[in-house]
Amino acid sequence: MTETPNFAADEPLSAARRRLAAALSAAGKEPADLEARFLLEAATGLGALALLTRGDELLGGAAKQLQNFAARRLTGEPVNRIIGTANFFGLDLVVAPKVLDPRADTEILVETALELLARKGMTKPRILDLGVGSGAILCALLDSRPDAFGVGVDLSPEACAATQINLARCGLAARGKVIRGDWAAALAGRFDLIVSNPPYISHAELGGLDREVRDHDPVLALDGGADGLAPYRLFAVELKRLLRPEGVVCLEIGWTQGAEVAALLSAAGWSGVSCRRDRAGRDRVIAVES
Ligand SMILES: C[S@@+](CC[C@H](N)C(=O)[O-])C[C@H]1O[C@@H](n2cnc3c(N)ncnc32)[C@H](O)[C@@H]1O
Repeated sequence: MTETPNFAADEPLSAARRRLAAALSAAGKEPADLEARFLLEAATGLGALALLTRGDELLGGAAKQLQNFAARRLTGEPVNRIIGTANFFGLDLVVAPKVLDPRADTEILVETALELLARKGMTKPRILDLGVGSGAILCALLDSRPDAFGVGVDLSPEACAATQINLARCGLAARGKVIRGDWAAALAGRFDLIVSNPPYISHAELGGLDREVRDHDPVLALDGGADGLAPYRLFAVELKRLLRPEGVVCLEIGWTQGAEVAALLSAAGWSGVSCRRDRAGRDRVIAVES
């Protein structure tokens, strides 16, 4: 295991950043320089530009905090969990314990949903996010569409609380509501856009997940049942009563699940089913245009 470097109060910021990046890189934590920057920003309270222009200044009282952050990162705690926030679709969101740390891959779902809403010319869309987690998708959609109203549902009380915090943090609380419940069971009414990034890891894959995921993301956010498709089977039936005519559904999927999820939606009578790829060129979103 890579040893945690010692940081002293009289070390210049630029040197501390270089040494931290080197230690992270040696431990295989990439992109090491970016991670070092985020940890140093959080430890010092300085922004990216200040770190660049004031690199000769000394760590001072931040040395202890940086030492603590470095030790935690080198023992496998993800950066966003250490600093307590994540950047998602340009929003700075709180990452709470027992709530999924939102992933950059999910931004493609937001892009797809916004594109479909625009293409359909929908105004004042009513949005439903099933398994809202930190509120990442819901906040991004409401932030991008000031005419929209949204509801987020989650079974986890911690996720519901985190979404509430993030809606308020983004100035969206007046247009976003949170309901604790089991998927759509407690919902009535219809929505123009239904989005979900459900748990989609199969039981066979759960044990083989990266340790950083297994140790820090809640199993409720990962476990998609025996074959990873349980939520999609339920959605294929349940979403029919919740989607308005001409409405749109966007579901995140695991990158190997495109054909299976598309097939089970088609078998349940949905038409207009297509698959979108993420920035790495892998299947990531199933879109349904009814
Ligand atoms: C993969 S996470 C997605 C979180 C967030 N939407 C995101 O993209 O970062 C799946 C979410 O579904 C929630 N969930 C799991 N089972 C659920 C159920 N039966 N009813 C409602 N939410 C559920 C989990 O608590 C978790 O927050």
